[in-house]
Amino acid sequence: MIDTMTLTKAAAALCGAFLVLLLGKWAAEGIYHKEAHGEASYVIELEEAGEQEEVAEVDFAELMAAADIGKGAKVFNKCKACHTLVDGDNGAGPYLYGVVGRPVGSASGYGSYSSDMSALGGDWTQERLDEFLTKPKAMVANTGMSFSGLKKQSDRVNLIAYLDSLDD
Ligand code: HEC
Repeated sequence: MIDTMTLTKAAAALCGAFLVLLLGKWAAEGIYHKEAHGEASYVIELEEAGEQEEVAEVDFAELMAAADIGKGAKVFNKCKACHTLVDGDNGAGPYLYGVVGRPVGSASGYGSYSSDMSALGGDWTQERLDEFLTKPKAMVANTGMSFSGLKKQSDRVNLIAYLDSLDD
């Protein structure tokens, strides 16, 4: 006797297999289509880039979880000329106390935000800080922050963890 559960499982398995087939066919057609125009390698590159991006996102959460706050405090030396970590104490740049999770461009009493920074909107998540600190001008074109960026991911991650730890 075949019970309902077995039937349901079999049906689900069939549906799953069909979906995989459909997706495969769709992907193959996409590549084939581009091949006809001599762009096959371009498409494959894009797909690979997409995959890498996904991997990078997963890794970021893991990197944050393993961040070294003590090392982050040292990295902050590169920011000290313009930023303080004291609530409300602005220098050439806005104070960074509580910046992780803070709305972009919202340090009270800081009057020198660039138009691009003001237009950005949203909050400073860990991911957005990571992007900004990699190369500030790439994210905020006319930023007034004269800082080339932190090239090392570990520096950025440690620093963000340090900044995030201050207002706990
Ligand atoms: C030469 C001075 C200078 C240095 C060095 C500098 N910054 Fe800035 N920073 C600024 C200025 C000016 C702004 C405002 C930029 C704008 O509005 O476009 C800013 C803005 C920011 C913001 C946005 C804050 C907000 O309220 O939205 C963050 C985050 C930030 N800086 C982090 C850092 C970190 C972290 C470092 C060190 C790795 C650093 N900055 C180094 C001058 C500096």
